[in-house]
Amino acid sequence: LKILVLNGPNLNMLGHREPQTYGTLTLDELMTRVDEHAQQLGVTLSHLQSNSEAELISTIHDAWQKIDAIIINPAAFTHTSVALRDALLSVNIPFYEVHISNVYAREPFRHKSFFSDVAEGVICGLGAIGYQAALTAAVSKLHNKNN
Ligand code: DQA
Repeated sequence: LKILVLNGPNLNMLGHREPQTYGTLTLDELMTRVDEHAQQLGVTLSHLQSNSEAELISTIHDAWQKIDAIIINPAAFTHTSVALRDALLSVNIPFYEVHISNVYAREPFRHKSFFSDVAEGVICGLGAIGYQAALTAAVSKLHNKNN
């Protein structure tokens, strides 16, 4: 199984950025944990963090017919990007939406997502564990277990 992990804008600043909200792990540390988890599950992970909507969209297009599931933290694009939503729909790859923070405990503009209604599942507020939980769920669904 091949799974793509996408992280949107400002997530390269994890560890330094608003640590009371996003924790103190850097993106590298967080993705290393996800990689280790993927190894245990026997799946191949690829990653991209980008601050560019265009680069995220092109990477989703490139995943067409190559990738079995996508785990995406669209970050601020969650609340703004119809284009990223349409890109995910265009490739017809099941995806899991992850947020490190509990967006529902924050500003009202974070309560609206352009992704949640078309996501396979949505995780928020679990910190770094959210990515691992999404990976567990994606692999289990692809193996047709527990669902
Ligand atoms: C986020 C929540 C978004 O509202 C915010 O813009 C982010 C990160 C999260 O992981 O909690 O950049 O997606």
